[in-house]
Amino acid sequence: MKKPVLQIKNLCKNYGDTLVLKGIDLNVHQGELVSIIGPSGSGKSTLLRCCNRMEQACSGEVLVESKDIYAAKVDLNKMRERIGMVFQSFNLYPHIDVLGNVTLALRKVKKLSAEQAKRIAMEALARVGMDHKASARTSELSGGQQQRVGIARSIALSPGIILFDEPTSALDPEMVGGVLNVMQELRESGMTMVVVTHEMGFAREVSDRVVFMDQGSIVEQGLPEQVFGAPQHPRTASFISRYVNQSASVEGV
Ligand SMILES: Nc1ncnc2c1ncn2[C@@H]1O[C@H](COP(=O)(O)OP(=O)(O)O)[C@@H](O)[C@H]1O
Ligand SMILES: [Mg+2]
Repeated sequence: MKKPVLQIKNLCKNYGDTLVLKGIDLNVHQGELVSIIGPSGSGKSTLLRCCNRMEQACSGEVLVESKDIYAAKVDLNKMRERIGMVFQSFNLYPHIDVLGNVTLALRKVKKLSAEQAKRIAMEALARVGMDHKASARTSELSGGQQQRVGIARSIALSPGIILFDEPTSALDPEMVGGVLNVMQELRESGMTMVVVTHEMGFAREVSDRVVFMDQGSIVEQGLPEQVFGAPQHPRTASFISRYVNQSASVEGV
């Protein structure tokens, strides 16, 4: 068994009186792609955000490459170099060009020279098919192109793992495939990934493991063919059948 890159142990998170994560246990191993599916409000984003301390968990542990990210002495910038995040809303800087967006953290956090940062950024942009747009302003790009730049910005830092929070949910339908292809290539190159997604085709075809969350808990997890083909829990079955019926009705229009 390969070693775990991410270990989440009995993680709890509340907002006021509401417990939104109710004791999450999850390990993600090197080179694994784990998809997290589940209804809106089930705690998927909160879980990812607690894994790089964008949110503070109230109890439990998160270890990234065996280091406790909640330890008092943790250097947040260094920790976040190891755990990349890609969001639904790309979070690129509109006033600087594509290359500048990708080199920023390489310069400021990794303290690389301009030449080194540019070389690494251009390699990352080439991996997502965006090197030809290096000098474009991000506001001139389509949503799909912006998201590919967001992914390049993440991989340029050579993180140990990348967490994706609904990376294609804000995209026009014709842009979704290009971003999912980039993610699939990334997985094939050996990147360890956690992907919160509503793209059930991607979760089923590309994941090593699928996790179904509901109401702040992991209800069920397993191989994609198990979770999609023979769900053990009625809540998983009902969620999946709702999705299948939805896409059938959309296609039928
Ligand atoms: N900053 C916040 N303050 C209060 N409640 C929040 C906050 N962020 C999320 N929540 C609540 O936490 C629950 C889980 O939200 P979230 O993690 O965004 O779910 P998901 O990503 O699965 O849709 C929801 O009930 C949501 O309303
Ligand atoms: Mg969410």
